[in-house]
Amino acid sequence: MSQHVLVTGGAGFIGSHTVVQLVNAGHQVTILDNLSNSSIIALERIKKLCTGPLDFIEGDIRNPSLLEKLFSDHDITAVIHFAGLKAVGESVEKPLEYYENNVGGTTQLLKAMQHAGVKTFIFSSSATVYGDPETLPITEDSPRSTTNPYGQTKLMCEHILEDLDQTQDGWKIILLRYFNPVGAHISGTIGESPAGTPNNLMPFVSQVASGRRDTLSVFGNDYPTKDGTGVRDYIHVEDLAEGHLAALNYLLEQPDNTLQAINLGTGKGISVLELVNAFEQASGQQIPYQISPRRSGDIATCYADATRAKSLLGWQATKTVEDMCNDTWRWQSQNPNGYDA
Ligand code: NAD
Ligand code: UFG
Repeated sequence: MSQHVLVTGGAGFIGSHTVVQLVNAGHQVTILDNLSNSSIIALERIKKLCTGPLDFIEGDIRNPSLLEKLFSDHDITAVIHFAGLKAVGESVEKPLEYYENNVGGTTQLLKAMQHAGVKTFIFSSSATVYGDPETLPITEDSPRSTTNPYGQTKLMCEHILEDLDQTQDGWKIILLRYFNPVGAHISGTIGESPAGTPNNLMPFVSQVASGRRDTLSVFGNDYPTKDGTGVRDYIHVEDLAEGHLAALNYLLEQPDNTLQAINLGTGKGISVLELVNAFEQASGQQIPYQISPRRSGDIATCYADATRAKSLLGWQATKTVEDMCNDTWRWQSQNPNGYDA
């Protein structure tokens, strides 16, 4: 059944891929994005990949009058909420900006939704809410804790949504906890375009492969893992986008007052050196690296138990590490500076 979905942060990395899939599945989509970490070029590219119309509003989720007008002008039936700040290191330097944008912004959005009577909500949460996991793989019932302001904002939003579910009628909510999103659209026209030096492994590796950076620093090779380097559950952004469509379909069939937390991961752990090797194969380029000290706050191993997503949503990741590297490399080669000219 076609829905009119408001996608906040829909011009960003994960949002852009999800918007394309939503429109191409027959949904009506309105993007709300302040372009603080995305670009109008991304929007033009998204539109080219869409088989139907796409509505874009440049604006901020923290603007109550804009939200009120948006909900009164558009017959929105569900919201997928990607908008937010996401850099762990920056959140330590600027905690107030993170709380204001991620927690304040989410609260403003929920208030506007409540006022408009729109109560179907999919939230971009993160495996960061599991902190340093005691057991692996990580299930949705694993204890939650965080070690930095960014993680706190995600956990606080989860608590706000749980309170809403407990105390208010009519909400249908899914907390999607993403593991490590990577990859790009197969066209090579949309992908991750980090500003400045990338914090995350995959964009850094792809920039070394393309010659934009000289050497990768591998943060620690003395972790208790297969080769001593950090192990993560990398998931292709196209699989992640499909997970949002499955979550939307699931919520539409549920009775009111539903809240589910669902991991979106592959269930497989890959080490830093395994990812580097896979990227060398995909790109045909050598990736020089040096072993550097551990990065503060990093954990050894993190991968999902993804069985709940399969049983509730009928969703599972299908793309391989080779797909992730091939698609990232296509995007990187065609757009050496991301969306910047
Ligand atoms: P992104 O930065 O590429 O996209 C976020 C988008 O939100 C950007 O287009 C930005 O311009 C917009 N935005 C930010 N603040 C806004 C505001 N106040 N009003 C309107 N628009 C605003 O990030 P992404 O990687 O696509 O992540 C999307 C969501 O998923 C974020 O909430 C992030 O915390 C979460 N998440 C990301 C990862 C990851 O590794 N990429 C992992 C787990 C969770
Ligand atoms: N790494 C390097 N060198 C780099 C960058 C990363 O060796 O230049 C290593 C890290 O030490 C880690 C692995 O590569 O072992 C993955 O690091 P990322 O920074 O790509 O990802 P993280 O797992 O640290 O964090 C990401 C997001 C967080 C999110 C978390 C869980 O950045 O926001 O996944 O979803 F909370």
